[in-house]
Amino acid sequence: MPAPITCIEDLRQLHKRRVPRMFFDYCDSGSWTESTYRANVDDFSPIKFRQRVAVNMDGRSTRSTMVGQAVAMPVALAPTGLTGMQHADGEILAARAAERFGVPFTLSTMSICSIEDIAAHTTQPFWFQLYVMRDRDFISRLIERAKAAGCSALVLTLDLQILGQRHKDIKNGLSAPPKLTLPNILNMMTRPRWCLGMLGTTRRQFGNIVGHVKGVEDMSSLGAWTSQQFDATLNWNDVEWIKQQWGGKLILKGIMEPIDARHAVDSGADALIVSNHGGRQLDGALSSVKALPAIVDAVGDRIEVWLDSGIRSGQDVLRSVALGARGTMIGRAFLYGLGAMGEAGVTKTLEIIQRELEITMAFCGHTDITQVNRDILVPGTW
Ligand code: GLV
Repeated sequence: MPAPITCIEDLRQLHKRRVPRMFFDYCDSGSWTESTYRANVDDFSPIKFRQRVAVNMDGRSTRSTMVGQAVAMPVALAPTGLTGMQHADGEILAARAAERFGVPFTLSTMSICSIEDIAAHTTQPFWFQLYVMRDRDFISRLIERAKAAGCSALVLTLDLQILGQRHKDIKNGLSAPPKLTLPNILNMMTRPRWCLGMLGTTRRQFGNIVGHVKGVEDMSSLGAWTSQQFDATLNWNDVEWIKQQWGGKLILKGIMEPIDARHAVDSGADALIVSNHGGRQLDGALSSVKALPAIVDAVGDRIEVWLDSGIRSGQDVLRSVALGARGTMIGRAFLYGLGAMGEAGVTKTLEIIQRELEITMAFCGHTDITQVNRDILVPGTW
């Protein structure tokens, strides 16, 4: 009997054993020295809770809302690229797990399963994440496709005009589908469950792009196309243009400074996400949780502020909420579950985090997540 899975780290270990190295590494690394990637996780634990006792802990609720949408807990699945390479049909499985659990799923522009795939396999609206690319016709078409699929919010990523370098991706020759080099074949042979899944699906390329952009038919043209496509000139006028094109709930991802948070408020967005892209972009940036309080203090009364990057437990969600985050996003935490056990693994991630959140909240003397504030934290520890 294998030992029961009790925490996110257990899922990470299983993910590492079951998924080819190039995709595990793609998920589990940061840019350059990975200092921000590590700080995102490490900076949570020094933030200490104040334990309360003899307080009625019955009737606990983690229910809340994010941009007006009811959520079982203030946690959404973050947009993550190549999710369908962690497990066959990965985005469909993650979206289904999120829907059943009652939390939002965000589909990345750089997903393997397409917008239409997710719409066909879910019943509730999901969110779509957009990268700003030079080809504005393609952006307009993506936005139209997200509208046609009934997406209920657009998550616009602002921190990837240019791509941070992740050494392991270069060393591993990351591609989707993987190139059949000898090292890749040898590594994949040790991951039979993953191989069988991939043989059983036709979704092995970037589903939102291949077949939707002229001249992008195979992997080599796609690689060249994407690296040329991210728009280095992105500015707040583009955000305005996208807001008009979309016309619905808009969430801006990648804000790390109060000045940019004020721009986000001025843009009329519905929420902003404090995020350094999981430490995958600016290595040396502050961790997201360290950046959060100043942004909440600057704009928290005018826009929903959420936190992304580094969350590996319900305690981390609670710390974020206590510091003023109305919601949070998890990326790697759900990818570990997906790579480990498919849809059931994503559900497991959500169950673990919710249970930890609910119990930690109760130890701090609260039964309703919407009532939690900085008072539950030890002053001077954040
Ligand atoms: C893309 O979003 C990435 O971080 O690889």
